[in-house]
Amino acid sequence: TKKITIAIDGHSSTGKSTVAKQLAKKLGYVYVDTGAMYRAVTLYAMRKIMVTDNKLDKEAILRHLAFISVKFKFDEDLGYGVIHLNNENVEKEIRLMEVSNNVSKVAAIPEVREMLVKQQHEIGEDGGVVMDGRDIGTVVFPDAELKLFMTASAEKRAERRYNELKEKGEDVNYEEVLKNVEERDHLDSTRETSPLVKADDAIEIDNSNLSREEQFEKILSLVKEKT
Ligand code: C5P
Repeated sequence: TKKITIAIDGHSSTGKSTVAKQLAKKLGYVYVDTGAMYRAVTLYAMRKIMVTDNKLDKEAILRHLAFISVKFKFDEDLGYGVIHLNNENVEKEIRLMEVSNNVSKVAAIPEVREMLVKQQHEIGEDGGVVMDGRDIGTVVFPDAELKLFMTASAEKRAERRYNELKEKGEDVNYEEVLKNVEERDHLDSTRETSPLVKADDAIEIDNSNLSREEQFEKILSLVKEKT
């Protein structure tokens, strides 16, 4: 079977990364979480107070871009690359609610996107990759053999994200999570550069009422059609 490129885009907290990891494992493909890259750049900017809840110092971020290195280091046990910011493993920190609250502002900066998209392109150029994000099927790999667009009701997504954060011991409330999910959808869909839109040839999957297993079987059969 040939190695294809699988692009998974969609709204926040639709389980893109869960299904992408499952797929990569099953197929022996490389998994790339592009959201982690935007989150890592955001974390850098937050540490330097270039972005807060009510400010974004775009010029400062641009001046620092050359000093921001975002890399995946392969983890044997996990079976995929773990995100590193200037050689520091930031996988845990980038999932914090504060980062989620700021990431869409940083991700709207064209130069930030340009830098990360270039890297994503290099990682995936040989195929055999499952990449998840917001613009993979539209911008990063417009020729991907399989494009999925995942969605679900905002309430369902907030509920899943809330449970996930609670399990990790984070002190959050449901309303706050719902607000974040809705705000990110709005910012991601309305930004000027590479907004979140479904590619014409993407297959939409609404998983509001699908179990993880049902969804995985469905997607796996789509992959089989293409390989
Ligand atoms: O996928 P995740 O929810 O971790 O992504 C975090 C944020 O990063 C998104 O809300 C979006 O603002 C940004 N992002 C993006 N383009 C991508 C992946 C993520 O703009 N390809």
